[in-house]
Amino acid sequence: MARVFAQRLNGLPAPATIEMARRARALRAEGRDVILLALGEPDFPTPPAVVQAAHQAALDGQTRYPPVDGTPALKAAIARKFLRDNALEYAADEIMVSNGGKQVIFNAFMATLDPGDEVVVPAPYWVSYPLIARMFGATPVFVTCREEDGFRLRADALAAALTPRTRWVVLNFPNNPTGAVCQQDDLEAIAKVLRDYPDVWILSDEIYEHLVFDGVRAASIAAVAPDLKARTITLNGVSKAYAMTGWRVGFAGGPADLLAAMRGVQGNATSGVCSIAQAAAVAALDGPTDLVREMAAVYSRRRTLVVEALRAVPGLTCAMPEGAFYAYPGVAGCLGRTTAAGRVLETDSDFAIALLEEGLVATVPGSAFGFSPYLRLSCATSDDALREACARIAAFVAGLR
Ligand SMILES: Cc1ncc(COP(=O)(O)O)c(C=O)c1O
Repeated sequence: MARVFAQRLNGLPAPATIEMARRARALRAEGRDVILLALGEPDFPTPPAVVQAAHQAALDGQTRYPPVDGTPALKAAIARKFLRDNALEYAADEIMVSNGGKQVIFNAFMATLDPGDEVVVPAPYWVSYPLIARMFGATPVFVTCREEDGFRLRADALAAALTPRTRWVVLNFPNNPTGAVCQQDDLEAIAKVLRDYPDVWILSDEIYEHLVFDGVRAASIAAVAPDLKARTITLNGVSKAYAMTGWRVGFAGGPADLLAAMRGVQGNATSGVCSIAQAAAVAALDGPTDLVREMAAVYSRRRTLVVEALRAVPGLTCAMPEGAFYAYPGVAGCLGRTTAAGRVLETDSDFAIALLEEGLVATVPGSAFGFSPYLRLSCATSDDALREACARIAAFVAGLR
């Protein structure tokens, strides 16, 4: 049989995050003691009250097909969440639950993109935005967020990337991978630019909103610029804030017409999200906020631990992230050098692969996030593992010739 695959998959790479984790697991299977800092996944357990709510939902018989766009109970909890945390009012037909935040993006892009359209993505970016855009024949257009601007998106850089073909602008603050946070005044300047492009949709991915440090507050573009709310998808979910990556619950607030189109996509793909996971998400969103604050405080401590350790390594630089749970050190000072095993480091990918195989620390190269030469380290693991990882990185760099 001739094995023909759809053209939309042409050249679509597996996300580098998953590829690095795969390489790390292969080394572990050989008995090597690899520290895995490649995946963006909280190491905390899901809060017990949330697990309890899922258990109860199953016992209560909440085991039938749920509505495609979410159970009424979860949609009501999401409406409360948007009002409480973001001062955003969404009606029931302006809220939709999906299989993780990732499916929100998939639904939104599938519902709106045609070949030739452009999606503006600030870089460094989470790997999935350009990959999903490409699946629908659209072209990602990258806007550099410079380290000297704290990796925030500058309005003038955004303006230079917009064209008559732009269909979406993606905003992801707190950012994966840099932890940059755009605040009220940043978003006001961005909104001013977007007003000149009334046909452009805005995807505001706020999945890390609660993981912010040092008193920084993340702002929502639809709240900062209410006139843009009718063309903004505000994306959020329970994966990161509530340590619920496996439950697969993400959600969107947005205009009813776009959500109806996204519902059409989801109805033909996955239907409604697992009813039991939705009951758990109600308990998470309506539950006490101190647990989330406690987890954020732990991430903040670990971030400082990692950044300070990396800054002490000659050849590395490291900005202090304001949010999320990653560090994004620069490795420019190490390029052109040779590892103890004789590899020449020409790129950050070379660095990440050599660090994994010789230093036994799995990270992701900045090239995966469209911004080199850097590495992304997830700080969502124990302080001891992070200390040991930083010591291994220091030893690896010290061994470069
Ligand atoms: C920036 C960002 N948005 C969205 C997601 C999607 O998360 P989920 O599909 O688990 O809700 C992730 C997960 O890594 C992410 O980093």
